[in-house]
Amino acid sequence: MKIAQISDLHVVAEGKTLGVAPMAENLEKVVAHINGLRPDLVLVSGDIADTGRVAEVVRAAGILAGLKAPFYVTAGNHDTRGALRQGMPAAALPAQQTAHLSYALDLPELRILALDSTDPDAPNGRICTARAAWLEAELAASKKPTLIFMHHPPLKFSVDETDRPPLEGADVLGAVVAKHSHIVRILCGHIHLFAQALWQGKLVCTAPSMGMRLHWNPNSKAVSSFLRASPAYLWHMHNEDGQIITHAFSLDDVEGPFEFS
Ligand SMILES: [Fe+2]
Repeated sequence: MKIAQISDLHVVAEGKTLGVAPMAENLEKVVAHINGLRPDLVLVSGDIADTGRVAEVVRAAGILAGLKAPFYVTAGNHDTRGALRQGMPAAALPAQQTAHLSYALDLPELRILALDSTDPDAPNGRICTARAAWLEAELAASKKPTLIFMHHPPLKFSVDETDRPPLEGADVLGAVVAKHSHIVRILCGHIHLFAQALWQGKLVCTAPSMGMRLHWNPNSKAVSSFLRASPAYLWHMHNEDGQIITHAFSLDDVEGPFEFS
């Protein structure tokens, strides 16, 4: 099974711009690239809109409709739940409950649990007891290999602005995650960088953004800026050995292909 993961689209409404980053145009490029590689589905791990408006979601949904594979979304801190419900097709956001936009996808090889980690008062996210209980129930319902996808990473990635404060309720989430060995990946966004770390014995991957790369320096705390970069995304494959293989694609800063010899 082949899964493309895109994140942090930050699409603005038609006629508006987001600084120097052509986010909608970048998303169009990524959609075309993904279509060429024919995944089975596409996960969109939040910050779909830049300011949470319905018009932004509608524009993003229109571009994502160009995907040949089905796509599924979860909310980021720049999104609002109401706008996502209004602007996204129901098939892309099959959340049943009203309090949060979490949902489960039962696929032949895998289960995917979209966990809504947003809170209007917590830019770096929050997992409340209700969502932890929902996750526990879903994880207990099936022992099929399971991917969790959520916007906010549950651990600090040495990115000052997203580490302080860290995800609220990470301890509650961690207690649930630690119990279930069939979680094969936790896929996140939020930090606008590709990064990986083990947490509670599970590999957490954060996806890069649509060309709005965090200006990150491991020696600096001054990180509230971004670099205009190639739009990039992750590719996860569940192979015949039962492993999840993750690759990262970056679109524009390459030439070739060239032969090795
Ligand atoms: Fe973002």
